[in-house]
Amino acid sequence: MIRSQFFLLLSALFISANSFALSADAIEGKQFYPSCHVCHDQSLDPPLGPPMWGVQRRYKNNTIDDEDFVQSMVDFVKAPTPEKAIHNEAVKQLGLMPPLPLPDDILKKIATYILEEHYSPPCAHWEIAVKRASNRGDLEHAKKDQLMLERFCK
Ligand code: HEC
Repeated sequence: MIRSQFFLLLSALFISANSFALSADAIEGKQFYPSCHVCHDQSLDPPLGPPMWGVQRRYKNNTIDDEDFVQSMVDFVKAPTPEKAIHNEAVKQLGLMPPLPLPDDILKKIATYILEEHYSPPCAHWEIAVKRASNRGDLEHAKKDQLMLERFCK
């Protein structure tokens, strides 16, 4: 084997060990994700939506399987109500999300992408949240977000 082929093989092995494959639906869904990211971008100050890292976690903890995850998310995004919302803290701080009446098959693909993506912990968001909570004298929230920073970002 000539040297360049050897390095190609090595880098292919390296890439496959360090990345994960999105399903075909998720790859399609990712293309529409900017319509969510405009609000769910963790670096926004002030924030317009909760970072997807936490949304994904809550949905994983509150649904029974992947299908339920995707369906519950589609149901919510089409027509958010306080009863359907499981991120109660975000509803309290930011108000209920406005409905995004995209076609079901597109919403399903977006939700599949959100299910499969490996989000990094939203450290920038927590730093912003600590600063904002401290500025308004809300020590309880400042402390809560500081704990998240220490737990996931140090
Ligand atoms: C205009 C801003 C905005 C856009 C655009 C937006 N969101 Fe949201 N989203 C929010 C806010 C604010 C919340 C927090 C309040 C809530 O949960 O309703 C939220 C919460 C959520 C939640 C958690 C719901 C819960 O159980 O409480 C999900 C899931 C979600 N968004 C999915 C999406 C998806 C998928 C998209 C893109 C198709 C999207 N959002 C686009 C603002 C937005």
